[in-house]
Amino acid sequence: MSRITKSSSSSTSTQKHSKPLSEKRQGQVLEHIDDEVLNVNVLRNNLKTQAVQAATASETNSSTLLPHTPPKETITPTLEYEMSLQEKSDQLADENWHIATEYYKNIDTKAFRQYELACDRVKSFYEEQHAKQTVAYNIQARINFKTKTRDTMTVWQALEKLNKLLDESDPDTELSQISHALQTAEAIRRDNKPRWFQLVGLIHDLGKLLYFYDSRGQWDVVGDTFPVGCKFSKRIIFPDSFKSNPDFLNPLYNTKYGIYSKHCGLDKVMLSWGHDEYMFHIAQKYSTLPKEGLAMIRYHSFYPWHQEMAYTYLMDDHDKEMLKAVKAFNQYDLYSKIDQEYDVEELKPYYLELIDEFFPDKVIDF
Ligand SMILES: [Fe+2]
Ligand SMILES: [Fe+2]
Repeated sequence: MSRITKSSSSSTSTQKHSKPLSEKRQGQVLEHIDDEVLNVNVLRNNLKTQAVQAATASETNSSTLLPHTPPKETITPTLEYEMSLQEKSDQLADENWHIATEYYKNIDTKAFRQYELACDRVKSFYEEQHAKQTVAYNIQARINFKTKTRDTMTVWQALEKLNKLLDESDPDTELSQISHALQTAEAIRRDNKPRWFQLVGLIHDLGKLLYFYDSRGQWDVVGDTFPVGCKFSKRIIFPDSFKSNPDFLNPLYNTKYGIYSKHCGLDKVMLSWGHDEYMFHIAQKYSTLPKEGLAMIRYHSFYPWHQEMAYTYLMDDHDKEMLKAVKAFNQYDLYSKIDQEYDVEELKPYYLELIDEFFPDKVIDF
């Protein structure tokens, strides 16, 4: 976990919200559940990697299990291979569950237990989220977003504001949002990735400001995202909790495609409302980030898709390219939470210039 490196300057934003933000929400509660959710996704990713590697290693002995195989020298399976493996796995799970479990027989049981324990801690959060993220709620959330006035400020001021809100209830907290933003951006920069990619690292979680504006709780700010308006995938974490969602029994929304159509493209799909969607809409409106950068922001919590390969039947060709970008970003989001301090004031000039490069308006409506 990172330690705090506080910025000495304070936000000069125009506060238009009716209620003082500090009275409304305690930011640490949000960060605590967000860290737990992230931890679950790290453990889940480890299990997934083990499963794919086990399947890849055993393909020579059971060629009928796999749709096609990647080259022998390939260490990381290609996207197409991973997608076809998941589809085949789904098919086998339906037809012949004991063969499907062959994929998972080589997984370290300790790792699985660790994953289950972490899940226990986040289960109640997902029970609430899965019950409340309905189509009706999502339409209302988007109307609120477009019609209400919140704050007008620069991107850097927004980062400082979020940082302040998230840790103001305990000055000794180890949780710091600006640290995660800088760690992610610096890891991307260290790998000589393009400047727009670095900026995505810096701002990808800025949408958590939503928690202090219009959200109803933590469930509509953080956590994995998923489409609403069609059948909830079994690949979403705790899929059984969707039985409490009113849309679960609605014939308009509970079929495979629901209100969408086959390969309609994720641009047309309504993803559960949270910090990803909120920040995506702001970045889309105010920034010149390329489509890959916008996709990284919009889909970074869409783990059922970019990690579990669910909903591939809603993807169009454009989404295949976006998936590669989102997967590239995800490694930095998951693994950059290291115990390293950055001097915010030292890095600030570099990132102010970076923000100016892609946010030409400078002062924007959050
Ligand atoms: Fe996030
Ligand atoms: Fe993040």
